[in-house]
Amino acid sequence: MASWQRTHTCGALRADSIDATVTLNGWIENHRHHGALLFVDVRDRHGVTQVVFQQEYDEALFERARRLGAEDVISVRGLVARREKANAERPTGEIEVLARELVVLAEAEPPPFEILDVAEANEELRMRYRYLDLRRRPLQNALAKRAGFVTAIRNFLAKEGFLDIETPILTKSTPEGARDYLVPSRVNPGAFYALPQSPQIFKQLCMVAGLDRYYQIARCFRDEDLRADRQPEFTQIDLEMSFVEEHDVIAMVEAMVIAGFKEGFGIELPRPFPRFDFAEAMERYGCDKPDLRFGMLLTDIGAIASKSEFKVFRGAIEAGGIVKGICASGAAEKFSRKAIDELTAFVNGLGAKGLAWAKVTANGVEGSIAKFFEGEKGKELCAAMNAVPGDLLLFVADQKKVVHKALGDLRLKVGGMLGLRDPKVFRCCWVLNFPMFEWNEEHGRWQFAHNPFSAPVDWDIADFSRDTEKIRSRAYDFVMNGWELGSGSIRIHKPALQSKVFQFLGISPEQQRANFGFLLDSYRYGGPPHGGIALGVDRLVTLALGMDSIRDVIAFPKTARATDPMSDAPSVVAEAQLAELKIKSTAQAPGAGA
Ligand code: AMO
Ligand code: AMP
Repeated sequence: MASWQRTHTCGALRADSIDATVTLNGWIENHRHHGALLFVDVRDRHGVTQVVFQQEYDEALFERARRLGAEDVISVRGLVARREKANAERPTGEIEVLARELVVLAEAEPPPFEILDVAEANEELRMRYRYLDLRRRPLQNALAKRAGFVTAIRNFLAKEGFLDIETPILTKSTPEGARDYLVPSRVNPGAFYALPQSPQIFKQLCMVAGLDRYYQIARCFRDEDLRADRQPEFTQIDLEMSFVEEHDVIAMVEAMVIAGFKEGFGIELPRPFPRFDFAEAMERYGCDKPDLRFGMLLTDIGAIASKSEFKVFRGAIEAGGIVKGICASGAAEKFSRKAIDELTAFVNGLGAKGLAWAKVTANGVEGSIAKFFEGEKGKELCAAMNAVPGDLLLFVADQKKVVHKALGDLRLKVGGMLGLRDPKVFRCCWVLNFPMFEWNEEHGRWQFAHNPFSAPVDWDIADFSRDTEKIRSRAYDFVMNGWELGSGSIRIHKPALQSKVFQFLGISPEQQRANFGFLLDSYRYGGPPHGGIALGVDRLVTLALGMDSIRDVIAFPKTARATDPMSDAPSVVAEAQLAELKIKSTAQAPGAGA
């Protein structure tokens, strides 16, 4: 045989190669026997090609081919021929390769699960054999798309004059609100590095250093409770710019995301991305990450409620609360009594005391509140809600926070049930002017809402303890389809103001020196005004590709318990290794003892 090495990938051949002699390398995907013919699908990352072994051509070759098993790695040399019946679903579907020579490059044991486009094996098993799960086409496609997207982002940022700068992984704790992963230092016994929750402080120091425009495709580590959209290590497109205001960062990121989506995924994002004030987003969507794929905005009916005979409505207003509703267009007939009961249980679960509802008909409103809204009153309600016959109205009366939470989530749920959250439609927006601080109920104190480096809207603010909840920061979020994909801010660059914020957050001057002394010091030597953002790559790619979990776009993700079933990380280490680090574990080793 000539070289066993491939002349083409398994996705390359078309009708214009008919009669050519080619060599393919790949895995056996499928094996079908039809009398004197054996059809074998050979797969690699680029596609699948049908190879045919003909008994009449070479009996011995045919016999060897019959013994091939799923996932064997082969080299096959043969002649490209037109397929009798083309397979329109495959790019290589017009042709097949008539095998002339075969080399088995590696024999495979039967895999623990079948490599199927739609996985059937359970996730734990697939994660244990992740390298096999990664042979599945949707995962290969996701990783290839991810790589293309990141390349497009890198190209864009390089063209805009951003420097790709690596910041340390062995570092000191950065406060992003999660727990740190700690790494013990052997040469400094008793001392620990923290893995970065983000490159935040270092990118700000890059600005002080005069590097002007920084970016990094940065790995971040956070020891937090995991969900479908969170991993203990994840990747950010992290950037920072000097001499900028919010709109400069926003315009840059908008252009970057548009270029990345177009080149990486072939998706044209409609622009411009609307910008909402945080307060406005809360009022209209009940949350700070609006899904703009559909309307159904929260509408305040306080004026009607306050004069209503319906005690629930009037009572809420009298108690200093609010009454708001959403109008599900054309949904009256789609929601049975039982479905509405389920929605009521849903909002109960979110802290609401009930769900008032009305179906709009040509003759007025029907439903739980109909008797309070007869005749003109019903018309007034419908006018306020912009409702027409056939619509379903849903209301919650309570304190503002409860109403926004309940209706915000209800809006998403109803939108989903009505098919208004099409995963192929993409709507982006910005949310600006977040509160600077939030009250932590559990600890009974104020904490930062974004991170402690975000500047207040009012630079000259004298006292953070006055009207704290009204203080706005220059933080902004990038939101797509109801997902927070990125967060950033214009930063504080004055040491006195930064100290004041730390102080207000309960970080004593001594702690400030110990944890952030280097940052505060740096500003004494000329820190330029600066700001930036970080976008979550894993979330962006998941959303763009319509995948279910960010695990589907990460080559080697962790389970919800932050473990890797394949390599068995994290694992117990040898006593000697701990002794060298001067560490003694008080935990009982998993599986040890009774
Ligand atoms: P923030 O903490 O909001 O900001 O993170 C920015 C973005 O990173 C993504 N992200 C995650 N993705 C997957 N798994 C996680 N556990 C996870 N946590 C966050 C999200 C999020 O919007 N230093 C600041 C940025 C800045 O101010 O420039 C920061 O890290 O998409
Ligand atoms: P009731 O008068 O308690 O029978 O309630 C009449 C309707 O009002 C029912 O559909 C309840 O679910 C609803 N309801 C009760 N409390 C609230 C509330 N706080 N907000 C909205 N609807 C409510």
